[in-house]
Amino acid sequence: MKYGPTHLEIFLTRLAFFFCGRSVYKAFANCLPLNGGEQVLDFGSGMGTVAYYAAKRLPRGHLTCLDISERWLDACRRTLRGYKNISYLLCRSPELDKDSFDVVYCHFVLHDIPDDELERVIPALAGALRPGGVLAFREPLNDTDKISLIKCLAEQNRLTARDSRITDIPMMGNALECLYIKK
Ligand SMILES: C[S@@+](CC[C@H](N)C(=O)[O-])C[C@H]1O[C@@H](n2cnc3c(N)ncnc32)[C@H](O)[C@@H]1O
Repeated sequence: MKYGPTHLEIFLTRLAFFFCGRSVYKAFANCLPLNGGEQVLDFGSGMGTVAYYAAKRLPRGHLTCLDISERWLDACRRTLRGYKNISYLLCRSPELDKDSFDVVYCHFVLHDIPDDELERVIPALAGALRPGGVLAFREPLNDTDKISLIKCLAEQNRLTARDSRITDIPMMGNALECLYIKK
């Protein structure tokens, strides 16, 4: 049996994507520092809500959509059918190659990962970035302990905060968006 969301969850996410795609997911994709030729990782891509917009900004680059759930990745393939610059990875972050991405982004993923797993995930994401690469994330602000842990782990792993802001996301409430640069 495949691990992951039910058909109803996928359907509801598709509805949210249909009605809020531009205001929620496109807005985040447009904040990513991309010139068009980067190697990018969408960590916890889900059904490809952000990837749908990020991939359009990579005409000479490549986007890897990574998720632990085969069901979400199947849904992601459906969302992104027709795109040529995307690959799909069913795994957890510790399996990532070193120095292989210019940009790694996480959209509403890290807050749901248990603390002990985050202690492996953030170093793996930092290690997968090339020097000068960017880690971008947007996470809900309600769990301040989790946000503090994410920031602390980023700084312990050669990532320096470059930018951060709080945004009010339709239907999701306040979220923190951060950009970190790898030394
Ligand atoms: C709330 S969904 C967000 C999906 C997508 N980023 C979005 O904003 O629509 C969280 C996603 O992260 C994935 N995920 C959770 N833990 C993960 C891990 N350790 N490694 C990879 N993916 C993970 C889940 O399977 C799910 O698809």
